[in-house]
Amino acid sequence: MATGLKQRGRADFNFLADLARWSGMSLQGAAEEDFDRLIDTDTLPEGVQSQIRAVTKVMEAESKVYQWDRFYTRFCAEQQFRSALLAYEDGEAEILAEYEKYADQGGTLHLNPDVEAPSYWSETEFHLAPGGWEGHPRMGFMIHDYVYDLIFSTGGVGAVRAGEKFTDARVTTARGGLKDHYDDILSLGVGTGRSAVSIQEVYPDARITGVELGRTELEHAKVVAARHGHEWELYQAAAENLPFEDDSFDLVTAFILFHEVPVPAAKQILAEAYRVCRPGGEVLIGDVAPYKDQASLFRCMVLDWETEHREEPFWRGSLLADRPGLVSAAGFEQVEEFGASYPWVTRGVKPSR
Ligand SMILES: C[S@@+](CC[C@H](N)C(=O)[O-])C[C@H]1O[C@@H](n2cnc3c(N)ncnc32)[C@H](O)[C@@H]1O
Repeated sequence: MATGLKQRGRADFNFLADLARWSGMSLQGAAEEDFDRLIDTDTLPEGVQSQIRAVTKVMEAESKVYQWDRFYTRFCAEQQFRSALLAYEDGEAEILAEYEKYADQGGTLHLNPDVEAPSYWSETEFHLAPGGWEGHPRMGFMIHDYVYDLIFSTGGVGAVRAGEKFTDARVTTARGGLKDHYDDILSLGVGTGRSAVSIQEVYPDARITGVELGRTELEHAKVVAARHGHEWELYQAAAENLPFEDDSFDLVTAFILFHEVPVPAAKQILAEAYRVCRPGGEVLIGDVAPYKDQASLFRCMVLDWETEHREEPFWRGSLLADRPGLVSAAGFEQVEEFGASYPWVTRGVKPSR
């Protein structure tokens, strides 16, 4: 992997990863003890949303360690992109040489400069990335090879607990299919191809197609495919308006896409997933577990913070929504959900005709 990393980038990323891990483990652990001491669960209002609001107010006012944990989490989120931009400047020649090296490998990119990106996507700076998903000509590279690999790798950010690995959640989701083999798999919101690598690991013979709105991410997904010796078909398109015939895929997957879209868009995406899925085929969604399935109210409060403080505006709506209900309403049957806090898997089957 060509990162062109120099000393300042290496030092910055090590520091941020250590800070995220320490804060996620030590400070959050201590904050949970404060929570147990300060919150009287018998006096809380009805409904998880009201309860989260009530306990957040108490913890923000009374728990010093919770205040510090949130401060460091926000600081890491802001700083990671500043550090990434500087590290990229140092390594650009090496990074672009890798793009060049893989120009003829990794499959086919179907870019569409006229793609109609929904405003919830184009107007949000997800995870505080300056300018959003397209805020830099190589944002895909920076998110994939710096932020995911060098900072998130030790956990302690968002739904990934300190000490956990992002990649494990992707593989667990991919293994959630009912069958051992699929011919054609569609990855919605394929991003930089991280989940597609896990899908291909679990189903090595499958043909993989990815759909993604971001150009820089798709370009990087092709490099990622090439690094692993895979060949994917990668389309720049909106998941709610797929450029495929009906009944094209026997598995339609989406890993951590749904918490980044508003519920009405989720309904449209599921309708499209149903249309392009073959009869007898499956939809497989991996995401953060809804609040009702989280281990504790403390954990719900920590996760809910993302909505307003780390530029995840659709997080709360998605974690309050009835995901299996949405999958059933799209027409899928045998809808099941299972997993842990992260990933939480929702699966459905398109009825055979
Ligand atoms: C959190 S990322 C996950 C990427 C990838 N699945 C992974 O595991 O790393 C969500 C991705 O979905 C893409 N996305 C969001 N809304 C979309 C939409 N309506 N159509 C296509 N892609 C979308 C985003 O650009 C982003 O790359």
